Amino acid sequence: MDSFTSVFDTQIDRANTNSDKWSKYTDSVIPMWVADMDFDSPECIKDAINQRVEKGVYGYTNTPKALENAIQSHLFTRYQWSVSAGHLVHLPGLVCALHLSVRVFSEVGDAVVVPGPVYYHLTKAPLLSERELLTVDMTIQDGRWLPDMPQLEAAFANPKSKMILLCNPHNPGGTVYTKEELLRIHALAERYDLLVVSDEIHCDLILDDLPHVPFASLNEDAANRCITLMAPSKTFNIAGLGYAFAVIENTVLRQAFNQGRAGLIPSPNMLGLTAATAAYQEGQEWHRSLLIYLRENRDFLAQRLSATPLKMLHLEATYLAWIDVSMLSLEDPHAFFVAAGVGVSDGKDFGNPGYVRLNFGCPQSTLDQALTRIEKALIEHSYM
Ligand SMILES: Cc1ncc(COP(=O)(O)O)c(C=O)c1O
Repeated sequence: MDSFTSVFDTQIDRANTNSDKWSKYTDSVIPMWVADMDFDSPECIKDAINQRVEKGVYGYTNTPKALENAIQSHLFTRYQWSVSAGHLVHLPGLVCALHLSVRVFSEVGDAVVVPGPVYYHLTKAPLLSERELLTVDMTIQDGRWLPDMPQLEAAFANPKSKMILLCNPHNPGGTVYTKEELLRIHALAERYDLLVVSDEIHCDLILDDLPHVPFASLNEDAANRCITLMAPSKTFNIAGLGYAFAVIENTVLRQAFNQGRAGLIPSPNMLGLTAATAAYQEGQEWHRSLLIYLRENRDFLAQRLSATPLKMLHLEATYLAWIDVSMLSLEDPHAFFVAAGVGVSDGKDFGNPGYVRLNFGCPQSTLDQALTRIEKALIEHSYM
């Protein structure tokens, strides 16, 4: 227990805040879908925003040097990854960068490789831009979700393939790729000359004692063929403030990305920049406590689910549990959970209708209540 524990235990009333998460379902349903936590942001972020708001004058704003320094220090301290400030590209969100990368670095009719089930924007990005989507199955290998490597190689070898969209840590499923696993993917990307767009938005949410290895930090060739996408938004619960960044070390790729973005994707807004600076400069203690709390929630969830027919693999990262409900043989698993009063994400949206995704970034009392509802529904329908 530490001084932050009570902060994470606090029930926050998010009614009348236009929260996406809390507007989707009726009041009788606990929303546990979108990747947004029911925790207040750290005081350092609230103070920084309040101070900036107090100053008034909300004109066009450029990126503070202090933010670039804080990002560089964050990446070096946590990942031993040395990044030049000139290689950073500041963005109002990460999803737009996924879509932009597909449009800038491939043409209509080209193919894009995506291991899945996965967060739906990785598959939407190719489909919305008339690229061919080559999904590679994530399969259970020694209790972890990993891409099927023969399938991955076949997809890479397709002459139409131009890039892979990788999600590390993986959402959903929580896989934290090891250096060896990434090196195997890199060896294939090098052999077939593919660009790697690495969505690493969940990299600061590793629950086990495992290192996050940025794909671009593997070696010089990886750095040269990679667009890394990161953000403080999931970690510090500031998605509504719209800030993310890309690291693009290859000058040709960076210039093409910036040219494609010009006039279409705006700079991040002033409050997003302010919040990100405070998060990376001063949020470390809060972040450490958050990980302890989330780890406890994950273990609590796993223990409760183990007494039901539902199955979940050990989750290495994220607060998004990927739960196998296929054994219930339900026509619409998502509807079953919502009827039980738990607003999970539909696994169909990620590529597997036999699963649901449950967001446990909430006070443990809320998680407890949701699990009690799920258990009750399973008993009522004679599943246990
Ligand atoms: C893997 C992944 N990428 C991107 C995003 C969203 O990024 P943004 O809100 O910065 O557009 C999410 C949100 O859940 C995510 O899980």
